[in-house]
Amino acid sequence: MDLNQSNLAIRKLLAKYSHTDPDDWFLTFKARFGMAVVLQSIYDIYGYGEVITQPYTCITAINPILVANLKPVYTDTDPTTLSLSQPEKLYNSKTVAIIMQHTLGLIGDKAKEIATFAQKHRLIFLEDSAHCVSRLATDSKGNVLADISIHSFGVEKVLQNTKFGGAIYVNPVLKQKNAQLYDHITSNLLSLPQPPFGLNFRSQTYRFQNGVLHRLPNSLFHNIRNLAYKAHIFELAVAPYEQSGHQSHPYATTKFVNNTILKHLPALPTIYKRRLKNTLIYNSQLASCTDFKQITTSEEPLLAYPIIFKTAKAASDVYDILTSSGFFIRRWYSPLLYPGPTSNRCYSYNPKMSPTAEQIHSRILCLPTDLESEKMKIILSILHPVKKPVEKVI
Ligand SMILES: Cc1ncc(COP(=O)(O)O)c(C=O)c1O
Repeated sequence: MDLNQSNLAIRKLLAKYSHTDPDDWFLTFKARFGMAVVLQSIYDIYGYGEVITQPYTCITAINPILVANLKPVYTDTDPTTLSLSQPEKLYNSKTVAIIMQHTLGLIGDKAKEIATFAQKHRLIFLEDSAHCVSRLATDSKGNVLADISIHSFGVEKVLQNTKFGGAIYVNPVLKQKNAQLYDHITSNLLSLPQPPFGLNFRSQTYRFQNGVLHRLPNSLFHNIRNLAYKAHIFELAVAPYEQSGHQSHPYATTKFVNNTILKHLPALPTIYKRRLKNTLIYNSQLASCTDFKQITTSEEPLLAYPIIFKTAKAASDVYDILTSSGFFIRRWYSPLLYPGPTSNRCYSYNPKMSPTAEQIHSRILCLPTDLESEKMKIILSILHPVKKPVEKVI
C-alpha cells in the first residue's frame, strides 16, 4: 500500500479498536515525535509553563516537554497504579498541561479524577497510552477523557514486531475548548516531513541488525551495537543524546513503517486476549507468594505484570534466575527517567520530589504477559518455589 492508503488503513483499525473516528488519529514516526508536536503547539499558544508528569517513566516521555521549552514538574508515584500521585499538589498559575501515563497498560479508574482536575484548572490533559496501543481511558458513556492520547508501536511495546511508529489521538472535544490549539496541533501533525535517508534506512534494517546483534556473545554485544550506532547505521531505542534532554526533529511515519504496522495490527485483539489471560493467571497464582507482592490485580491486558520485592537485592536475585532461565524480564523504570538522565538538573528533577518512586523502582520486576501456556507454567514454578517436602520422621 502507498503512504496514504496505509495511513488510512491503520487509522481505521485504531478507530475500530477504540470506538473512535479514524479522522481523529495522526501517525508519526515515533510516539515521542507526536508528543513533541503537541507540547510545542501548547507552548506556541500558551507560552512558557509547567507540565505535570512523573519520574517513573522513560526519558523519551519527558524530552518532548523540554524541547518545547516547557518545564516538567514531577508528582510522586502511586505504588498501586505506578502513575501520578496527588497532581493537585503541584498545580500553580504556570501549570499548562498534565500527562497521565498508563504504566504497563494499567488504565484502571484513575483518569476520571484527573480529567476533573484538568477541567477545573483548564489544563490540557495528555494521556500516555504508549504501553496500551488503541486503549484509551473513557467515562461511563465511552467518551474519551483526555484531550490528547499518545500511542506507540515502538520497541518493547504491545506489538513486538513493529519497532517504529506512533499514533496520536486528538479528541475533537478540544476544538470546542480551544479551537486555536486544536488547529495548531492537527495542522502541525499533518505537516510533519518524511524522515531523512539515514533514519529511513535504520528503520528498514533494524530488525535484521537487531537479530544479528542478539546472536553475538554477550561480551561483544554492547561494543558492536555502540559502534553501529556511532556509524549511524543502527537506531537505538533510546540514544545517548536523549539522556541529556535532546530529541531529534519530529518526523511523519513512512510507507515502510506503516506497512510493517499493518502486518501486525490485525492481530492486536488476539495479542490482548493472551496478555489478559496471563494477567489473570498472575493475579490468581501469585497472590500467595511471600517473597514479593503484586502491585495490582486489575483485570486488564497488561504489557507486563509488575511485582514488588522487599529489597532491591531480592528483586535482582530473582531477575537473574528468570533471565538465565530464558525469560525476558523488564526492570521498568529503574533507574527513574529510564535509562537515566546524564544530569537531574537538566530534567529539573530532584529525588526529594518523589520519595515513593525513589524507594520502589529498584524493587520492581515486570513479568512477561505474552507467554504461551507451557512457558507460563515454568515461570510460575520458578516464582512459586515448591514447598519443602515434609521430612519423614522415623
Ligand atoms: C511511557 C512511554 N511514553 C512514550 C514513549 C515513546 O514512545 P516511542 O518509542 O514510540 O517514541 C515510551 C517509549 O519508550 C514510553 O515508554
